[in-house]
Amino acid sequence: MSVTVRVPAKVNVQLAVGAARPDGFHDLANVFLAVGLYDEITATPADGLRITCEGPDAAQVPLDHTNLAARAAQKLAERHGRPADVHLHITKDIPVAGGMAGGSADGAGALVACDALWDTGASRAELLDICAELGSDVPFSLVGGAALGTGRGEKLRPLEVGGTFHWVFAVADGGLSTPAVYAEFDRLNEAVEVPEPLASEPLLDALAKGDPTALAAVLSNDLQPAALSLRPSLTTTLTTGRTAGALAALVSGSGPTTAFLTRDADSAANVAQALFSSGTCRSARVAVGPAPGATVLGRSLP
Ligand code: C5P
Repeated sequence: MSVTVRVPAKVNVQLAVGAARPDGFHDLANVFLAVGLYDEITATPADGLRITCEGPDAAQVPLDHTNLAARAAQKLAERHGRPADVHLHITKDIPVAGGMAGGSADGAGALVACDALWDTGASRAELLDICAELGSDVPFSLVGGAALGTGRGEKLRPLEVGGTFHWVFAVADGGLSTPAVYAEFDRLNEAVEVPEPLASEPLLDALAKGDPTALAAVLSNDLQPAALSLRPSLTTTLTTGRTAGALAALVSGSGPTTAFLTRDADSAANVAQALFSSGTCRSARVAVGPAPGATVLGRSLP
């Protein structure tokens, strides 16, 4: 038997970052929106743990125990006192090291796939607990939709979304390391008192109303100056999308993917075309949000 799970990418519509904590993490007010770019993880019985990956960026995906999918399988197996015997095949469509939680998606997907394959019967609470151990963004990959993440982003409160938002994502050449972007945030803010991160009420309101113009006016990402400092060329990409009619443009999470909120599907197609033909990005992808979290697509018998 094999089990296939589909998991969405995310964009942060607000990423408010506090000062570095003693454990090195940063407290956040992180408003996640899941968007319809997906990785698929297929779990098949095997002797030992094996990871394979296909997709345009597959060469950049580690296939060893550092892959979050492998760590997810190991953690679930340990908790249930069984061997982590599974072949996990990742069909990767989410940009790698792009600020869209592609690695986190694979962790959440592998967890759900192994739970189903091994008939572990883990509760939702246990799965969320393992997700939080795997990484700050992994719990959101499991739940999808829209949510406010506090703490280091792992404590989630689901948010109401009153409509569909049309996005374009400009995929950059090469990734950015999340720890490097947070370190640059610390460097840029060395001399200032970083305020406590708080969710923006107008932003939560715009999401609840499904109003793209209102949301565009309040999108914010405190990691953007750090990402632009490490990758100055992203400024040109942001300008290109705005000029092509995007309502707003921002760096997605820690980048280097840039995100463009548009009025509707037609506008998204125009912005994607303009970004692609400008040569300021590797590819431009259209996607809508919110999207559902990790979902079992199917089980097949050998
Ligand atoms: O939790 P995750 O493993 O995804 O975090 C990767 C890195 O990002 C951390 O090691 C840390 O440098 C940074 N980070 C942070 N504060 C957060 C989330 C991540 O400093 N809230």
